[in-house]
Amino acid sequence: MVANPNGKVLVFDSGMGGLTVAREIQALAPTLAVDYAADSGFFPYGDKSDEALRARLPVVAKALCQVARPDVFVIACNTASTLALEEVRAALDIPVIGTVPAIKPAAQLTRTGTIGLLATPGTVRRAYTAQLIKDFASDLRVILHGSIALVRMAEQVAAGRPVPLEAFRTVQAPLFEQEGGSEIDTLVLACTHFPLVRGELAASVPHAVNMVDSGEAIARQTVRVLSHTESTSHELGGHVWLTSPLNGQSRLIEVCRRFGYLGIDQVAI
Ligand code: DGL
Repeated sequence: MVANPNGKVLVFDSGMGGLTVAREIQALAPTLAVDYAADSGFFPYGDKSDEALRARLPVVAKALCQVARPDVFVIACNTASTLALEEVRAALDIPVIGTVPAIKPAAQLTRTGTIGLLATPGTVRRAYTAQLIKDFASDLRVILHGSIALVRMAEQVAAGRPVPLEAFRTVQAPLFEQEGGSEIDTLVLACTHFPLVRGELAASVPHAVNMVDSGEAIARQTVRVLSHTESTSHELGGHVWLTSPLNGQSRLIEVCRRFGYLGIDQVAI
């Protein structure tokens, strides 16, 4: 694997959660140009129908790649990747990397044999998620819970607007209150928004757990793919594209600024 490949990556999510993946990519490969795109005009993804997302994702991915011209497109969103990875791949002529719940590492980590999975309602009901559990955790108990409220809370906290710990306690309660919930020792953060509030989640769980997410694995995969991809880009990264008008998006713009992304434009879809 090339330690510091050149080239440009476009990291994509419905909102600001994918910045947690972009951060991991940049940490692993500091010379890489990393741009970011959020489908803010269709946020959140986690409560949308499969049909609506399947129709939207290839169109948005294509429009964003036309303006950003990346060498690799990273879908930093479990909700989108577990549904439409193949559709997006078919729409683009560059490598596409998806993000799926970190069930495999969690299965290796658990000692009690009970894993919790926090995601969006969309990711929780996906056949893809069920298959991952079958493939990597068939002998374990996996307890799932989906929350859109937690997605919104994560964006708020990332913009520097605190949310009371009690709200995090309330959001996590339905996971730990399910049968076997008191046995959960490993928690999969299966939505890229949730690492934005890892501290708040850790401070409000009913008992201590290990938390795992896919960020670092996606970063390694991105570097691996780029080391086999001929780069056509000589630009610096650090740019953001939103699919909604910029006025009225002060929260998103603040999150981007906090992550070091200063240039922000709208792409009309
Ligand atoms: N960040 C996304 C994920 O990983 C989805 C959040 C949403 O738009 O519902 O699932």
